[in-house]
Order: sequence, then structure tokens, then C-alpha cells
Amino acid sequence: MPDELFDEVLARIRPSAAEEAQMRSVAREAIDKVDAAACAEGLDVYALHVGSTARDTWLKGKKDIDIFLMFPPETPREKLEEDGLRLAKAVSPRYEERYAEHPYLTALYRGLDVDLVPCFRVKDAAHIQSAVDRSPFHNQYVQKNIDAKADQVRLLKQFTRGVGVYGSELRTQGFSGYLCELLVLKYGSFMGVVEHGSGFRRGKVIDIEGHMDRSVEHADALVVIDPVDPKRNVAAALSEQKFCEFVDACRRFLKAPSIGFFFPPPPEPMKKGALEGLLASRGTRLVAITFKTPDIVEDTLYPQLRKAEESVVNLLGRHEFKVYRSDVWSSDRSAVVLEMLVWELPAIERHFGPPLYEREHCEKFIEKYPGAYITSSCRYAVDMPRRYDTANELIRARLTSCGLGKNVAKSVAEGFDIMQNENVLELGPEFAVFLTKFLRAPEN
Ligand code: CTP
Ligand code: MG
Repeated sequence: MPDELFDEVLARIRPSAAEEAQMRSVAREAIDKVDAAACAEGLDVYALHVGSTARDTWLKGKKDIDIFLMFPPETPREKLEEDGLRLAKAVSPRYEERYAEHPYLTALYRGLDVDLVPCFRVKDAAHIQSAVDRSPFHNQYVQKNIDAKADQVRLLKQFTRGVGVYGSELRTQGFSGYLCELLVLKYGSFMGVVEHGSGFRRGKVIDIEGHMDRSVEHADALVVIDPVDPKRNVAAALSEQKFCEFVDACRRFLKAPSIGFFFPPPPEPMKKGALEGLLASRGTRLVAITFKTPDIVEDTLYPQLRKAEESVVNLLGRHEFKVYRSDVWSSDRSAVVLEMLVWELPAIERHFGPPLYEREHCEKFIEKYPGAYITSSCRYAVDMPRRYDTANELIRARLTSCGLGKNVAKSVAEGFDIMQNENVLELGPEFAVFLTKFLRAPEN
């Protein structure tokens, strides 16, 4: 096995002693400040260091720490939110309020982002009141079991990051840090995960504690039962696409391990000439429907963008245009991006009438359309002038009546552009990088 390779990777991703010391002292100070503030107010609340920086599985250069504010479970939700934010502000005068399931705060303190998240300290993870309440239990579980395997977790995190499947946020729909930790616990080492991962099939179930609740159905690509909650699938956020990309990466790594899996070369932005050449040789058309990005968090935005993508692809399909591949992209502007096989159609389209055996309806149809004829599917039909003979016309006329998600719909209603072929590069260099991946020729 490629031990030297792993040493080389670890040398680049293991935090230095100084970094580790800094992380610990920032965590300590943040905890002390919250605890002191709670004590001064007479609140029964304490702070707890959780996440990868608490269990030694973080990657060098990480700039954020997770600190949870532990409230009694009977605290009313509004009080938890209010008191939580106020106590969190004790850490630093520089902070940003953020929203997940409930509001939390990111304090900027000694060069690090300290996430201060209020939660209910419930008696076990099966009794959570809010999704974040599980995290302290994850912490206990991983700390108890991870022993000397932290480096193996780091290798897996860096590998999944390198091949583009790390991060459970809805933008990525990949592997969370906790999922990487559990996979290493299950298979013992990074190589153990890769060897088993290369043979994963859709619907694979991993139940480390052997306690899964069989009354709960998980229709996910990968099912990893949470060791602290028999009802929860830790891999629920993993999309089928990212699951498949992971299995493929494991197979390729086993065949030819290399540093490039962990540290891929930075993606090249697509150049104008190259794009023109590529589109000419493929004979396809590139279309980007763009609009101003709504001012909402990514976890809300991305599901809406994907919904818009699906609606547009369905709309085009219903009107006989053919989409070859599609994706979404977002920065200041957002885009639904399509590579199309068919974007122009002839002047006629077939309009179907009633089945042959519905005699009365047939009479009426023939009366209305004297050119009606019978088809092999035993229905009448008539040739009509096509309503939309280019994809652009169709999109322009019908996009706003597609299912787009609330905020995206609003933004689209305010105005959208349809950009084509090399003109899409006007979206800027970030988009050009996205395009390289989007149009990547299948490897064979
Ligand atoms: N968590 C989870 N499922 C997710 C995201 C987070 O269970 N999809 C929980 C885990 O207990 C995790 C904690 O929330 O440890 C903190 O989340 P996060 O900071 O996203 O993950 P880390 O494990 O700290 O990993 P990273 O190194 O990426 O920060
Ligand atoms: Mg973290």
C-alpha cells in the first residue's frame, strides 16, 4: 500500500503544533467567556467545544471552530434563541448573525470564526428538539471511539475534498465530516474505506451499532445509521451523483493511487477559443438562463436552483427539445446551464386527438380539423404550425410559469437573460472554471 503517499499527504494536512495550540486556546477562551456571561446572568447554560476541532479530525488551515451553548431542554425556543445570541456576543464584538434551523452567531476572534450555536441538552439523541442537538452526542461517540484513527479520518476528508464530494451542505450534497469519521470507524482505516467503497452499491446500509430502527425507511443512495440515533441516516444529504462519483474515485485510486486525488491541480478556466472549438466539434449548443441571485442562504438557494433546473429541462422535453446535460451555478448572478442536442425544430408539430373508439369525439375532432388523420396508435392527429420552434422562444415565453421556488421565481420575474455558446463566458472567470467541469468530455 502507498504508505509514502499517505505520509506526504498527512504532512500537508495535519495541523502544526502551533495551529493546534491556537485552536485549543481560542476554544478555551470562547468557552470561558460564554460560561462567565451565563453565570453573571444566573442562566443554567454552559458552552461545549464540538465538531472536528474538538475531536482532532480537522484539516490544517481550518478557520472555524464549533462551540455549542447547552440550554436546559425545557427552555422555550424563543428564549433559547434570544439568550443564545446574547451570550454568544460575549465572545467578541465582531460577529455575524446566521441562520440554520435557528439563529446562531459566528464570532470573529483571534483570526478564527467561532460558530456559537445554541442547542437543547436533551438526555439522549433520540429525544432531540432541534437537529443540532445531536452534535454533542456525535462528539462523545467519536471521541470515545476514534483512538489513533484521526489521521485516517484526515486522509478520507482530504480525499473526498480532492475528488469534489466533501461537504454535506445542500450546494454540494456530499460527505459530511461526521460521515467520514463513521466510515473510518467502520472500516478501520482510509484504505479500508476505499476498498469497501469501491464496491458500494446503491442503498448500501452501514449500521455500526446494529441498532437501526427498521420502521424508518431510507430511500437514500447510502444509509449510515447514526450510532447515537437509530432513526437517522447520517448520509441522508448525499446525492446519488456524489455517491457514484465517490465509488468511481475509490476504484480509480485502487488502480493507480496518486497525490492528485488529494490535491488535484486547480481547475483551468475555459477559454473562448477552446469553447468555440469544443462546441463546433460536439455540434451542441450551450445555453445559460441567468438572473440576479436572490439574497438568501445557500442551503435555501440551491434546492430552488435545482428545482428551476428540473422544471426547465421538463419544459423543454415536453416541447420536443433535447437537453444533453444540465447544472446550476451561482455567484452574483445565478444560472441554469444547459448543453442541448436539439434547440430548433421544424415548423409543424403533431397535435393528438381522441382514440379511434371514442366515435363521437372523433366526429367533432374531424369537423374541427379537416386535415385530421389516423395514426398507428389508433388515435386521430393533425399537423399544426409549431408554437415554439426554438428553445429560446419557449424559455422566453414560459419560464416564469415554471415551478421555480419562491425566491428564484421572484428574481426571474424581475428579469432574466438567455446567453448562448461563447457568450456565456461574459459571466466571468468563476463561471469559466465551472464550464470546464461541466463540459468535461467523458473519460474513456
Ligand atoms: N453535523 C451532522 N451532519 C451534518 C453536518 C453537521 O451531524 N450534515 C454535526 C456533526 O456532529 C458535526 C457538527 O454537526 O461534527 C459540526 O458540523 P461541521 O462543522 O459541519 O462538521 P465537522 O465535523 O466539524 O467537520 P469540518 O471539519 O468539515 O468542520
Ligand atoms: Mg466544524
